[in-house]
Amino acid sequence: MFRHPIRVNLPRSAVSVLKRGAHDLLTYSNRPPALRKGIEGRSAISGHTITVFGASGFLGRYIVSKLAKSGSSVVIPYRDDYDIRHLRVSGDLGAVVQLEWDLRNEQQIAECLRHSDTVYNLVGLDYETKNFKWKDVHVDGAARIARIARENNVARFVQVSHLNASPTSTSHYYRAKYEGEQAVLGEFPDAVIVRPSAMYGHEDRFLNQLGFWDMTFKFNGEQTKVRPVHVIDVAEILYRMLDMPVLPSNPVNLPGPTTYTHEELLNLARRVTDNPYRSIAIPKSIAKFTSNILQYAIWWPWFSPDEIERRCIDELDVEGDWDKFGITPTELEDVAIAYLRRFRDATKIDYNSPLETAKAKRRQNAYYSEPSESS
Ligand SMILES: NC(=O)c1ccc[n+]([C@@H]2O[C@H](COP(=O)([O-])OP(=O)(O)OC[C@H]3O[C@@H](n4cnc5c(N)ncnc54)[C@H](OP(=O)(O)O)[C@@H]3O)[C@@H](O)[C@H]2O)c1
Repeated sequence: MFRHPIRVNLPRSAVSVLKRGAHDLLTYSNRPPALRKGIEGRSAISGHTITVFGASGFLGRYIVSKLAKSGSSVVIPYRDDYDIRHLRVSGDLGAVVQLEWDLRNEQQIAECLRHSDTVYNLVGLDYETKNFKWKDVHVDGAARIARIARENNVARFVQVSHLNASPTSTSHYYRAKYEGEQAVLGEFPDAVIVRPSAMYGHEDRFLNQLGFWDMTFKFNGEQTKVRPVHVIDVAEILYRMLDMPVLPSNPVNLPGPTTYTHEELLNLARRVTDNPYRSIAIPKSIAKFTSNILQYAIWWPWFSPDEIERRCIDELDVEGDWDKFGITPTELEDVAIAYLRRFRDATKIDYNSPLETAKAKRRQNAYYSEPSESS
């Protein structure tokens, strides 16, 4: 009778979100997964289903890649699917599941994590926007995800905070990170808090800024202390904790192995890129005043007043928890060339500094001195 079937589009809110089903295998944080198959690798099954909120970010790509490559099913909530295209190929077909979400939509959050045994929350914001303030993202948003994770019997919740998170910090961002930790622990008392210092890597906002600009503003006489940490080391810790029934420490502090002043970092970048560099001293109060005005005048993220404040706060002098996870953190000087070479002048792109030449020679000698199979 009807040539066309009648379709009724129900609003999302009219459809109840299913909770974890009886057929879902439960994985507990203190026991290995019930179902495991094959040795670790793309086509193995690790038995874990993991949701990574903030997967489209800098740290997200490294942890998703490690998880998916080891045979876990990884759910990656996204806002813009262009931002997660590169993650789809991290694992075997079907291992990486993308779901659209909104931080304020509880139903979508529940859909993203209802099959998962582990949830990583890497959602973070360096600067406030018209729609999201730091409290919305770092405190309320993190607490919301933690609460929904608890309601859905997630076994482990990992919250990525910051080494400098403190209730008394002069930086709004660091205070919000601390409040976020407390809010998460309030909702999910067993949550693991991970505190990395400033991270560097290919897509960072750290070495790339040092390499890109040939002029920078000088705050605090460039004497602020930074303890840069390699993003791959942080991702490796997040990955290793997956199969640890009991974590050796909580919070997990992850500062880099060496402390540098900003001046030393600038010199390092200059040595590696071999580009001339200038820094202009500017009083903090004037810089903050100007950036406050510029925040409203331009629409792209610029130096926010809080970022200027953070440039004057030393990274905390605490011991790292690396050895408890069996990892030796990478020295920045050993890998800086990989991230900074592209900022070199085209005529010097292949030029190696004496340090790199010595390293390359050592590698070559080690290669040729290995006995071949035929000998
Ligand atoms: N980078 C560092 O040096 C550093 C150092 C210490 C600690 N941390 C912390 O480590 C975590 C990861 O850092 P990261 O450098 O990887 O961060 P990032 O590159 O800035 O990525 C942030 C992630 O959060 C998501 N996000 C931000 N606001 C959101 C919102 N309102 N709704 C939904 N998603 C939102 C972004 O999604 P979209 O792509 O959709 O925007 C992105 O996936 C953050 O919590 C950060 O505070 C970072």
